[in-house]
Formats: sequence, C-alpha cells, structure tokens
Amino acid sequence: MTDSTLLTVNGLQTAFHTEEGAWLAVDGVDLTVKRGEIVGLVGESGSGKSVTGFSLIGLIDPPGEVVDGQVLFNGTDLCQLTEEQLRQLRGDRIAMIFQDPLMTLNPVLKVGEQMMEAILTHYPETDKAQARQRCCDALAQVGIPSPESRLHNYPHEFSGGMRQRVAIAIAMLNKPELIIADEPTTALDVTIQAQILFEMQKLCREQNTALIWITHDLGVVAELADNVAVMYAGKIVEYGPVKDVLQQPIHPYTEGLLNSMPGSAQPGSRLKQIDGMAPTLTGREQGCSFRPRCPYAHPSCAERAPEVSTLGTRQFRCYFPLLKEAN
Ligand SMILES: Nc1ncnc2c1ncn2[C@@H]1O[C@H](COP(=O)(O)OP(=O)(O)OP(=O)(O)O)[C@@H](O)[C@H]1O
Ligand SMILES: [Mg+2]
Repeated sequence: MTDSTLLTVNGLQTAFHTEEGAWLAVDGVDLTVKRGEIVGLVGESGSGKSVTGFSLIGLIDPPGEVVDGQVLFNGTDLCQLTEEQLRQLRGDRIAMIFQDPLMTLNPVLKVGEQMMEAILTHYPETDKAQARQRCCDALAQVGIPSPESRLHNYPHEFSGGMRQRVAIAIAMLNKPELIIADEPTTALDVTIQAQILFEMQKLCREQNTALIWITHDLGVVAELADNVAVMYAGKIVEYGPVKDVLQQPIHPYTEGLLNSMPGSAQPGSRLKQIDGMAPTLTGREQGCSFRPRCPYAHPSCAERAPEVSTLGTRQFRCYFPLLKEAN
C-alpha cells in the first residue's frame, strides 16, 4: 500500500443464500483505488457490479452476505466495522449515488432540510448559517440555478436530471474521500448525462475525491475514468488504464463489449453481439465463466477458472489473452 492508496479490496466474495445453497454474486474481487482516482466498473447486467458497490460499504442485506475478503479504506477493514461505525462513514467520508435519486432523497422533506441534515448528522457543531451556505454552494456547484430558492423545494419539484444533481450535491456535501456511483446517469438523456459526467469529473479532481463509477456503458467510462475494471460473472476479468484497455483489450470479453458498442461498426454494417447470454448466478460454468461465449475458448479453459495475470499496468483473467501486438 502506498500513501496515495485509499481503498484496497482483497478477495471480496458476496453470496446470496437460497434453499439450494449459497451463490456467489461477487466471486473474489481485488481492486485498488488511489486518492482522486476515477475507476469505471463495467459489465453486462447481472455481472455483479451493484453487489460489489454495495458490499464495499456494508449495504448488503440478507439473504445476501459478504462471506470473505477485506475492504481496506485508509487501512481499516470495513468488513469488520459495526453497523454504527459504517453509518458514521457513509454520507461523510464515503458517499453513494444511486441510479434512482429517490433512494437518497426523502420525498416528504424539502431539499434544504435534507441537505442540512446531511451536514448536521455528521458535524452537529456546525454553525447553521454556514451549513446553509454550504448547501447553496453545493447546489450551485452541480449546476442548479437559483440554489437559495431551490432549497425550499421538494424532490418532486425537480426534473429527473436536476434531482440527480441534487443527489450528487448531497453526496459531495461533506467532501467525501470516496464516492461509489451506481449508474447515476443511465436514466437521463445523453446531453444531461454528458454534463453531469463533466461536472462530477471536475468536482472529484478539485476535491481529490476518488470515484468508482458503475456502468454498463464503455462510452461513459471512456469519457470519465482513469482506469477500468471489466466485470463478468462476479469477477474482474480485465483491469487497466482506460485508454489502453479500450484501444487494445486483452480479455476476449472486453473485446466483445467493445465490438458491440454503437460506433464501433462500419456505417451500414451490423453491430457484433457477444454470442449467448450472460450466465445467471446458478448457471455459472466450471472453469472460465466466459468460455461458453468465447470465440477463442480451448478445452483447457473448462478445467479451472483463470487466476489474475499481470502485464505492466494491465491485469486479466484469461489463458489465451489477446496479446497480438505485445508479442
Ligand atoms: N437480493 C438479491 N437476492 C438474490 N440475488 C441477487 C440479489 N441482488 C442481486 N442478486 C444477483 O446477483 C447477481 C449480480 O447482481 P448485480 O445487481 O450486482 O448486477 P449488476 O452488474 O449491477 O447488473 P445491472 O447492470 O443489471 O445493474 C445477479 O445474478 C443478481 O440476480
Ligand atoms: Mg446494477
């Protein structure tokens, strides 16, 4: 761990318990995030992105359970903290932004009241007038016009895009060291999405806040992130600097995701889909989980799941990596 390391996740496993047994939605995730770094966590639906995000901050409820691993935040293992200790961290040093801003916002309280509460819960000694000013500044920072009067509005009085900006403003209020954002712009139109990405990136850079941005959209990752972790069937199958991973994917799954991105095909030609479906929790294969869909699969891929291999700044889980140029 270097001084600039903020978060180190080691061998994180999260299971959902059913009558048939425990199924691993997160299956051995390792991840390091530096202060101020923006990491994109991408993968198809069901790959385990949200469960990973929730597991990091102790928000997994039964029948789910973090069954193994460490989440070291500034060296403290969050998996060992009590619910009360976690509550103190959340909304202060670590914040979460959800796809639906109403998961953060209380519909029956005015935005100003909720913002004040977000400050005063963690810092009760704060002067009220100063706290109010901070709320105004936070709304202005995320591009909400007339913030002073907007403090008196209820969440339903904001448009979807503005409501998400309010949720982001609340997340940023106590200047967190880490924000975990789970598809916060997926429901918004592309222009608003682009504005919010730009503003989040700017704010995180200014405040040296690290950001884990969960999305299924590699285009968003390309715009926003420094590094990208590609998730498949509960594992990070490829990790590295965004430019390198997008220009020269090493894992066949990443290559498949890139080929299925709008804009990757020649005009008039069809986008290439990845064959087959992402496996369900209970339908995962022995060996490499991507094998049934992989154009390069070899019988030996069925034997054992590949461990993590490292090549410079890149990491991948594959026995037959796409290393054409590197060879
Ligand atoms: N409460 C739950 N009970 C049982 N299984 C669950 C629960 N929550 C998630 N899962 C399962 O865990 C796996 C990972 O789900 P997760 O929500 O993390 O996927 P995701 O990558 O975030 O997908 P999406 O892009 O659709 O949001 C899925 O197979 C899902 O069905
Ligand atoms: Mg999700």
